[in-house]
Amino acid sequence: MKTIFSGIQPSGTITLGNYIGALKQFVELQNEYNCYFCIVDQHAITVPQDPATLRKNIRSLAALYIAVGIDPEKATLFIQSEVPAHAQAGWLMQCVSYIGELERMTQFKDKSAGKEAVSASLLTYPPLMAADILLYNADLVPVGEDQKQHLELTRDLAERFNKKYREILTIPEVRIPEVGARIMSLQDPTKKMSKSDPNQKAFLALLDDPKQIEKKIKSAVTDSEGIVKYDKENKPGISNLLSIYTILGNKTIAELEEMYHGKGYGDFKGDLANVVINAFKPIQDKYYELMESNELDEILDLGAEKANKIASLTLKKMENAMGLGRKRK
Ligand code: TYM
Repeated sequence: MKTIFSGIQPSGTITLGNYIGALKQFVELQNEYNCYFCIVDQHAITVPQDPATLRKNIRSLAALYIAVGIDPEKATLFIQSEVPAHAQAGWLMQCVSYIGELERMTQFKDKSAGKEAVSASLLTYPPLMAADILLYNADLVPVGEDQKQHLELTRDLAERFNKKYREILTIPEVRIPEVGARIMSLQDPTKKMSKSDPNQKAFLALLDDPKQIEKKIKSAVTDSEGIVKYDKENKPGISNLLSIYTILGNKTIAELEEMYHGKGYGDFKGDLANVVINAFKPIQDKYYELMESNELDEILDLGAEKANKIASLTLKKMENAMGLGRKRK
């Protein structure tokens, strides 16, 4: 059975983009692959975080993973900082990374632009991400399109390590969904939907209540043509909404275009709001139930134990290959 690894940052709001680009795929993949899903809290601290809030967000993300349908009997769910091998292997991967290639990462450029105090960890984020993946010998990494560049670097670093030391690391493939790889902002459909958008109306959060969902969808930016038609170039707003509808509403784009032929954006948006509300409802119910129970701690304890076993084995192999430590006489 092939192995999958993926991670999500516990940085507060989990958006519809995270759900469609990542979580929804994970649920489908857990039946066919040996899956490791991680709450990457060490990545979250590359930008300032309030400690109490971060703690809350870690638990909340764990509950969301389960609430969307991750089955802890099938997949291993764990918190990155509870598996020390990640930080250790992250260091080893930094030692095979070049500053120039890290500076070229678009995420680094975006997050550091215009800032005076940029943490060194923002630059060395990709080698840690590479370590996350490589420790589990992952064959496949399901992510949204924005992570593609990090995955390419992960492959380069793994190949470099294998060449320089020993053939230890599995070279992972990226897996990007065909539809929904890049859910766009509701307020500026040429930009990615992002939880860090200062305009709350730009994103739908998985925990938004029905009223918020309705309001945000109704105020989503479209165009003045009034025709429900998929045309990413010329009609990015309505095309983004059609992508969301097709994924959550189980209807093809062609069916949707036919359904709304001759109708305005108002009808379309009203129905889409209901589709989103109905898709989120069972997730939210399960989420609030989990946040009250002890089940989550048991799942995370077991996940950390399983992840530690495999990650520490790969780490040992990497350290041996690099000549670290000693051999007993
Ligand atoms: P993060 O936490 O920003 O996002 C988690 C996942 O959600 C996807 N995503 C989207 N997909 C479609 N449309 C969007 N608007 C959208 N926004 C986010 C992301 O592509 C991602 O799959 N560096 C990673 C976390 C990470 C990781 C890893 C991922 C750390 N180590 C190892 C995979 C493997 C990140 O910041 O994702």
